[in-house]
Amino acid sequence: MIVRLRSTSSTMVDAAALATRGRPHGTVVVADEQTAGIGRHGHSWHSGPDGGLYFSIILRLRLAPADLPALTMALGLAVQKSVDDFADVSCDLRWPNDVLLNERKLAGIMVQSTETDALIAGIGINVNQAAFPDDLRRIATSLRIETGREHSKDALLDRAIAESLRAARMSKPEILRQFSDHSTYVTGKEVEVDGRIRGTTAGLDEDGFLLLATPTRVERIISGAVRPV
Ligand code: BTN
Repeated sequence: MIVRLRSTSSTMVDAAALATRGRPHGTVVVADEQTAGIGRHGHSWHSGPDGGLYFSIILRLRLAPADLPALTMALGLAVQKSVDDFADVSCDLRWPNDVLLNERKLAGIMVQSTETDALIAGIGINVNQAAFPDDLRRIATSLRIETGREHSKDALLDRAIAESLRAARMSKPEILRQFSDHSTYVTGKEVEVDGRIRGTTAGLDEDGFLLLATPTRVERIISGAVRPV
């Protein structure tokens, strides 16, 4: 079931409230605009009424906390595939789950758990924005900017929901294998993490954490902003 809203603070908050009231796995809240869109690491998510797709999915999965990083990576794969197939583009995945097009961020994904143990997957895809504010222009892009035309958000939403629900059932080894195949960031990329540690990416461990070879040792990166250098 899809709950459609014109404007809301954050579809993640709405989906969490619905989950607490017992709505089933696969329920989706989508909004034309969010007035307080949430991003990872305490950031906000640019959510104006100017063409972004903002939606959150209730997931009722029996997962151990150690499986959550792989779930967010599976959702990254799902969004990448939906966008690639839909718009005939070729997105990259930046660990753990940013979807990039031509090195700029096209979509962001995050997963939060609710007090009643449901999971909420929040997904934002930049679809029809013609431009971004100055502070985002260098790092964000939209399908419209990259392809020169507008796209149907409803059609992309249908694909992204179907792919996300399918991906959420994948096994951890399969997620890690596919992520490694579909991301240029997993192996051999010179990166900086949170502006504090530099090295060359050296694959994923069995839980999906990023291995980073520095001049002195191999670090296991559990979270953080990974940027090319
Ligand atoms: C990130 O920081 O990369 C994750 C961004 C997630 C944004 C989406 S938009 C729909 C949902 N509602 C929110 O408030 N955030 C997520």
